[in-house]
Amino acid sequence: MCGIIGYLGYREAYPILINGLKKLEYRGYDSSGIAIFYENGYSLYKSKGKVHELKKKISSYKIKGTTGIGHTRWATHGIPDDINAHPHVSNSNELILIHNGIIENYHAIKIILLKNGFTFKSKTDTEVLVNLIEYIQKKNKLSLEEAVRISLNEIVGAYSIAIVEKSHPERIVIAKLGSPLALGINEREFFIASDPIPFLDYTKNAIYLKDGEMAILRKDQELDLRKIVDNHKLSPIIKELQINLKEIEKGEYKYFMLKEIYEQPKTILDTLRGRLLIKNGLICINGIESNKDIFINAKSITIVACGTSWHASLIGEYLLEELARIPVEVEYASEFRYRNPIIEKKDIVIVISQSGETADTLSALNLAKTKGAFVFGICNVVGSSIARNVDAGAYTHAGPEIGVASTKAFTAQITVLVLLALKIGKYRLAITESRYNYLCQELGSIPEKVNRTLKIDEESIKKISKVYHNVNNFLYLGRGINFPVALEGALKLKEISYIHAEGYPAAEMKHGPIALIDENMPVVIIATKKGCYEKIIGNIQEIKARKGKIIAIVNEGDIQVSMLADYVIKVPNISEELSPLVTVIPLQLLAYQIAFIRGENVDQPRNLAKSVTVE
Ligand code: F6R
Repeated sequence: MCGIIGYLGYREAYPILINGLKKLEYRGYDSSGIAIFYENGYSLYKSKGKVHELKKKISSYKIKGTTGIGHTRWATHGIPDDINAHPHVSNSNELILIHNGIIENYHAIKIILLKNGFTFKSKTDTEVLVNLIEYIQKKNKLSLEEAVRISLNEIVGAYSIAIVEKSHPERIVIAKLGSPLALGINEREFFIASDPIPFLDYTKNAIYLKDGEMAILRKDQELDLRKIVDNHKLSPIIKELQINLKEIEKGEYKYFMLKEIYEQPKTILDTLRGRLLIKNGLICINGIESNKDIFINAKSITIVACGTSWHASLIGEYLLEELARIPVEVEYASEFRYRNPIIEKKDIVIVISQSGETADTLSALNLAKTKGAFVFGICNVVGSSIARNVDAGAYTHAGPEIGVASTKAFTAQITVLVLLALKIGKYRLAITESRYNYLCQELGSIPEKVNRTLKIDEESIKKISKVYHNVNNFLYLGRGINFPVALEGALKLKEISYIHAEGYPAAEMKHGPIALIDENMPVVIIATKKGCYEKIIGNIQEIKARKGKIIAIVNEGDIQVSMLADYVIKVPNISEELSPLVTVIPLQLLAYQIAFIRGENVDQPRNLAKSVTVE
């Protein structure tokens, strides 16, 4: 979390930084700040709240300078206020630092610094780091870059940083471990950002710093890239980024989340493109093909992820067990990494992450690798840390997801998991030819069916949202492969509308949650025809007997459930294995509509950030 940005060149830095921070706000929006440097001095501005608060505060100032750094914060140490906002300044007022990540041993370092006469204004770990760099620089009479390097070798934790010395505004030092850092390069100018989007208007030539790398950027000089551990000089490999700017604009939509929901027919098609060759009955996934034997001989698979990606993993468990007949365990990354999991050499671990930067998932990946596992990644962000560190993988190709609540990445992850399960099932002779061919056909029809789902019951969803936008609780029920969809529906509602919601396997309801049901409790129940339909009708009767209100997701042409439910939302008929790809769509729309009616900022829900780079 937190977004960092920087500029060094010949243009005015302020507009680049302030516009760039807006584009990085998805990473955190508790407070923001910028520092702009001029000959022997700098202007520093900070503000609690979103970037527009900062902009408002300084709009009448003339801010001049061609070197600058900026930050948008998701608070870890210290409340969101002006003092804890970045940039942070060292005690002598010489060094100015921005930081994304966490310094885990900051407390021990702070004690040493306090003993050496340093004082602190904020509660942040970042202020400790900038003063550690100053302490080491002054004590040993070092250049800034050498002081940064030695200090970072003392640090336990994760960081991407940019630091400027007041008396040398012609230089910025940057470094990375764990948190992302992209560097845009043009003739006579450098752009620094947590992701390349803020500088795409200026350059597409960029490098992603790797963990353990630092760079010294100097005006009118070549990039100087080094290893933090031993100062070894590295040759930078500059790549041209393939990002379409249209993908990161809202267009006609009020919120990115809505745009991303409506993009799903296209994004699923993009996920399938070149992989599902229906005419030849082929599924092509390089990462599986080049490791065929590992998948054929697998005794089990562990899938590790967080949040929405964890829900996709649960669907993956169902698919891989059903279609490839491999036992699958799904783990929260944060639990997996702290409990000495039983992973042996050559065991398969699949990690799933939209951002490819989630700290817990990244650490789980590293743990699995140290145990000798073969790690396969499913990521959306190309070139992200997780994507770079896995043994093999498949991108989801959903395009940039900007709304904090994940939608199109979820359906893209499920699409990859279906492809994986079918491909591995075929390798292992676990699936019949006819079922394989049938499911390939069905998969090919998904983009059109999702498109139809988006249109079928738009009006009913709006109507239901009007009726229930003020309730305090919601229950979401599903069975089998649609149980994780119920979890996902509840998560979407919670995170953007702040209504308490819980997902449950429908039959489990009578073991506790049924106590909550009364005439005020809306229950969203996924009741598609092929998934334990009769049993679900029984569950609906139990809810009705207690006066609960039923919002049922049913197939087109459904009669029985539709007669019992208070509201129905229809989805097209599709095989049970693929049904999450359509049943989740109305749940995403319902959450969106409810949050919208409540007047919430759908794209930037409180306390959240898109990329969780802290543990
Ligand atoms: C929910 C949401 C989060 C993420 C989670 C994992 O809408 O977006 O729960 O799914 O933080 O993030 P990734 O997939 O980037 O690892």
